[in-house]
Amino acid sequence: MKTSLRVPAAPVNRNARAAALPRAGNVPAAWRDEVDRVLINDAQIARRVRAMSREIERDFKGHEMVVVSLLNGTVMFLADLIRHLSLPLRLDFIGVSSYGSGTTSGELVFTKELRIDVRGRDVLLVDDILDTGRTMKRVRAKIQSLCPRRIQVCVLLDKPSRRVETVQADYVGFTIPDLFVIGYGLDYAERYRNLPFVGVLKPEKIQI
Ligand code: PRP
Repeated sequence: MKTSLRVPAAPVNRNARAAALPRAGNVPAAWRDEVDRVLINDAQIARRVRAMSREIERDFKGHEMVVVSLLNGTVMFLADLIRHLSLPLRLDFIGVSSYGSGTTSGELVFTKELRIDVRGRDVLLVDDILDTGRTMKRVRAKIQSLCPRRIQVCVLLDKPSRRVETVQADYVGFTIPDLFVIGYGLDYAERYRNLPFVGVLKPEKIQI
């Protein structure tokens, strides 16, 4: 998970219908020292992810799809999303990470390459969060060069206010403000991925 200075917003995909941010409730006792508040709770995530699966099912019907998931932050979102997809699909992972474990957007390195041939296939690219858009732009271009039939982008969270690259998602779970979010796969310095909700990290826990 990364954060950096605010940047001018780039256009976002108006066709991707994100759910309004709900009231999410209290932080579970075990996490109160580190988590400032719950932004989206587990039930709200589950409802939204099921709805996204239904939307994807409708759009991909009739073609065998390849789901390409970006490591590591998608772990929970991916598992929940695909268990509701009643479609023939193949699954592969691509590893991309910013250099180091700090909070600023650094150099992107590929840590795992695709193994499945996506030529002529419908690809669903899945990521946990679209932030500056640098990662998605780079990964999308790499997959595009492999000549798929089409690529659709699916993210759980979108922070359009931080975009520096013109990149849009076709399926968005929730549009969120510029907060430092953790949980449900999202990390800070590789921690907090196991939280079952999306929460806001206490500012004093962030070391820049
Ligand atoms: C996070 C997240 C996205 C990316 C979004 O990945 O999972 O892939 O940042 O940021 P961007 O839009 O500014 O490029 P990270 O590199 O932190 O790796 P992780 O998935 O292992 O947490």
